[in-house]
Amino acid sequence: MNATTTLVPQADPGASYRAQKAEIDAAIQRVLESGWYILGKEDVAFEQEFAAWLGAGTQPQHAVGCANGTDALVLALRGLRVGPGATVVTVSHTAVATVAAIEMAGATPLLLDIDPDTYCMDPDELISVLESPPPGLPPIKAVIPVHLYGQACDLTRMLAACDEAGVALIEDVSQAHGATLGGRKLGTFGKIACFSLYPTKNLGALGDAGIVSTTDATLAADIGAIRQYGWRERYISDLVGVNSRLDEIQAAILRVKLTVLDANIARRRQIAAAYDAALVESDLVPPARVDGVEHAFHQYVLRSPRRDELQARLRAMGVATSIHYPLPVHRQGAYAGRIALGPAGCQETEAAAREVFSLPLYPEMTDSQVAQVCAALKSL
Ligand SMILES: Cc1ncc(COP(=O)(O)O)c(C=O)c1O
Repeated sequence: MNATTTLVPQADPGASYRAQKAEIDAAIQRVLESGWYILGKEDVAFEQEFAAWLGAGTQPQHAVGCANGTDALVLALRGLRVGPGATVVTVSHTAVATVAAIEMAGATPLLLDIDPDTYCMDPDELISVLESPPPGLPPIKAVIPVHLYGQACDLTRMLAACDEAGVALIEDVSQAHGATLGGRKLGTFGKIACFSLYPTKNLGALGDAGIVSTTDATLAADIGAIRQYGWRERYISDLVGVNSRLDEIQAAILRVKLTVLDANIARRRQIAAAYDAALVESDLVPPARVDGVEHAFHQYVLRSPRRDELQARLRAMGVATSIHYPLPVHRQGAYAGRIALGPAGCQETEAAAREVFSLPLYPEMTDSQVAQVCAALKSL
């Protein structure tokens, strides 16, 4: 990179604060002065506003704010009474949190391979393990497909297979806020949907936060109790719970950011379209577009066996990239050798981990930053 080139970061959560600084500062001030800092009016309002955003045009949703996306998954499993003595199916090509949450709930993870076009759970392998579960594991009670990078899993086939097997489908929508399938938002298909609201996500707090959503009011009430010591009534634990409350400052900030979420997703799609156009003559293949799916472009992911070289060349042209994810969960020290894999043995997962890299993508990128990335892509 020469001295005059400025680096385009791969993500820039500070830019999202600067873009709405006045409203966010006012929201924080409002909470500071209210004297109520955890699970209060801001949390209730955010849950209602998020549920309305998610459920618009479909069934009403009940949303429960919590401390982070990992806890959202744990709360979903605990709400469904899925824990010790149950197997939960997910993928190895995901944030480690998805797998960690299954173990935090006391259940046994079973990791399937991905479809190499979408990077999401291979629906054929799911159908096969639901029909003939691997021996030696507890019964399968839930499936957590991850809508990775903003892409949608093949929910139509997965839901049919889960319904037939009597297994709950929990959507991990942490990377796909605003993506749609058949015009309907992801997070409205499964029994429960879990969202991380980590600062870099499509809807991100300025700290940790998460939210769980379901159309089942009883389940939502249970999850709401479990997130605070199992209380339905103050100081009386009706259920065995945890502490995973959402704080009022984050809820107030998220309310501000929710107002620009749709516009931000539109901007993400616009940047992705610019990258697609820049790659027209390249041997690098843009992310798959699936019929009926509107990708939410949390990440714009390319793959190449020459990844290291391409990342270095991009960096020299002022373009930062990241790798999501460099090592499959089942190869990481904490999990290697002790986690069950599906019959496909996660071969596509391992190949993807060796080749994928993510371009800069956040809504506040300026047109000139987008142009800088496009010019660099064209010269690869
Ligand atoms: C797919 C996925 N699931 C779960 C999580 C966990 O979210 P958090 O970091 O908010 O606990 C993340 C965030 O990294 C994620 O990307």
